[in-house]
Amino acid sequence: MRRRILAAFLICMTLSMLAACAGSKEEKTSSGPSMSVDEQDQEEKSEVVPDEEKSADQAQADNKSIVVYFSRVGNTDFPDGVDASSSASIQIDDGATKGNAQMIAEWIAEEAGCDTQEILVKDSYPVDYDETVDQARDEQSEGTKPALKTEIGNMGGYDTVYLVFPNWWGDLPMPVYSFFDACDFSGKKINVFITHEGSGFSGTIDTIKELEPEAEVTEGIAVRGGSVDEEEENIRQWVAENK
Ligand SMILES: Cc1cc2nc3c(=O)[nH]c(=O)nc-3n(C[C@H](O)[C@H](O)[C@H](O)COP(=O)(O)O)c2cc1C
Repeated sequence: MRRRILAAFLICMTLSMLAACAGSKEEKTSSGPSMSVDEQDQEEKSEVVPDEEKSADQAQADNKSIVVYFSRVGNTDFPDGVDASSSASIQIDDGATKGNAQMIAEWIAEEAGCDTQEILVKDSYPVDYDETVDQARDEQSEGTKPALKTEIGNMGGYDTVYLVFPNWWGDLPMPVYSFFDACDFSGKKINVFITHEGSGFSGTIDTIKELEPEAEVTEGIAVRGGSVDEEEENIRQWVAENK
């Protein structure tokens, strides 16, 4: 009798184990074919970065351009609350006082997704507009290149430079000449943008070509400072088409 009970118990155990095995096999099959480690690895990788996106990301990482600009505002110690309406050279943007060339530089940097470097002189220009005009004229006639406050970083890592400055007496402001003295642009592309009150580029494109004969100098857009806001779309479009 004892043997029969034991035999019956063993048969029950065996049957229930077989049923459990069949169940787990079904579960596996319903979740799809199992994968080798390599296959799983491959699937994870392809989920993270599709190849097409990877090349777009890489292109972004390879975007080696910089915006370099000179503007009167950053080079003048204006008192707080300066009256923007008193000068065509001062803009109020989101509560901040900005120069015309600075506004353009910021749009370009946003559109190109690149770094920005401002050219800053050691000794600021006078707050009075007419005094600045006179000082700039003297600097030009005497060939004085003001000392720069900003350490001009190594431009070696950049392929394209967007250069933005105001027309001063039909020429580059002398601090921009100081900047050219400090850097070598051979083999680089220089896209030039200028702000003015009627003179446009004057001879600045030819001057830059003479200063940097081994660079590719391209005329960007000449913007009338008094209506710089109206040119935002144009500037962004130029950069989008040429970057
Ligand atoms: C010293 C000085 C000289 C200037 N000379 C000229 C000029 O010869 N031709 C011109 O069209 N505008 C001239 N302007 C006007 C500036 O080019 C114009 O206001 C520009 O938009 C200023 O840009 P910013 O705000 O970035 O300094 C001169 C302005 C200054 C301060």
